[in-house]
Amino acid sequence: SNSTYILAIESSCDDTSAAVLENNKVLSNVVARQEVHEQYGGVVPELASRAHQQNIVPVVDIAIKKAGITKQDLSAIAFTQGPGLMGSLLVGGSFAKSLSLALDIPLVAVNHMHAHILCHFIDEAGFDKPTFPFLALTISGGHTQIVQVNSFFDLKVLGETTDDAVGEAFDKSAKILGFPYPGGPLIDKYAKEGNPKAFAFTKPKVDGLNFSFSGLKTQILYFIQKQVKENPNFIEENKADICASIQHTIINILMDKLKLAVKQTGIKQIAIGGGVSANSGIRQTLKDAETKYKWKCFVPKFEYTTDNAAMIGIVGYYRFKEEIFADSSVVSKARIEF
Ligand code: KG4
Ligand code: ZN
Repeated sequence: SNSTYILAIESSCDDTSAAVLENNKVLSNVVARQEVHEQYGGVVPELASRAHQQNIVPVVDIAIKKAGITKQDLSAIAFTQGPGLMGSLLVGGSFAKSLSLALDIPLVAVNHMHAHILCHFIDEAGFDKPTFPFLALTISGGHTQIVQVNSFFDLKVLGETTDDAVGEAFDKSAKILGFPYPGGPLIDKYAKEGNPKAFAFTKPKVDGLNFSFSGLKTQILYFIQKQVKENPNFIEENKADICASIQHTIINILMDKLKLAVKQTGIKQIAIGGGVSANSGIRQTLKDAETKYKWKCFVPKFEYTTDNAAMIGIVGYYRFKEEIFADSSVVSKARIEF
């Protein structure tokens, strides 16, 4: 057939995922979440790589079966080369390498951050694709970047976090409030009922388009400690207002930088990606920005926001078309540039 079938594998952090794409359409996207980390309040790298090793074969098998194809139909195998946890990356990378060798089909190395951005090009009913150039805001537990995207392969980082990622700001704030890991979605949930202006937190002063979130976390910690000393039930009694205020502050920080990026580049198309783009406050704020600032905003389908292999597959597809293949000497990288 004339179709390209890409098997994609993602194992950069704590989710093992495999997907099959037929050209730019997703046939299957299977994600095995690792619950083992919850009790530790964060991802334990050693346990993550072990779980990837247990999950990878069944996850790939299910993805291929769900897609309704066989291994022999595959055109290429795409995998996450980095950035991420080395032990986790190695499991997916070694598996992809071996399978491409066994099936004698090309191997395609994919940058995870590139994938969070190009997920907007997955063909999906009801979702528009951005046109070049556009600005991408990638926000997750591991990353926070504003990227100018000039074409599929010409990307320029305009700003990034100098310390914690946005997801960490959410998760660490949640931890202070006693929520289980990852607490970001819980802050989102309680924020819906709260007053975003109940408590004021100051925004960090960071030059240009860079971000800093570690000061906010400390500020929240001291504030909560002080309040709890006066009233031990402070958190319980003000849960919604605290969450709404924290979320409001984080969104303001992101919006300030986006406004500056638009001003500097003249580009008014904004595409968000990464786990934190699931946040309902951020999604609403961007929707409002379409009328307020005349921006065009792109929010991915929910299943392509958190780590998933479908987004690796779409980058794999575009790289395959350009015949940008990796050879068997390709190595996983904890840090990687565009
Ligand atoms: O992209 P992702 O799944 O993994 C990384 O690459 O880090 O992002 C996970 C992050 C976590 O910090 C989680 O708390 C956050 O995304 N997150 C949210 C929401 N859903 C997930 N943060 C705020 N509101 C949400 N609704
Ligand atoms: Zn990610």
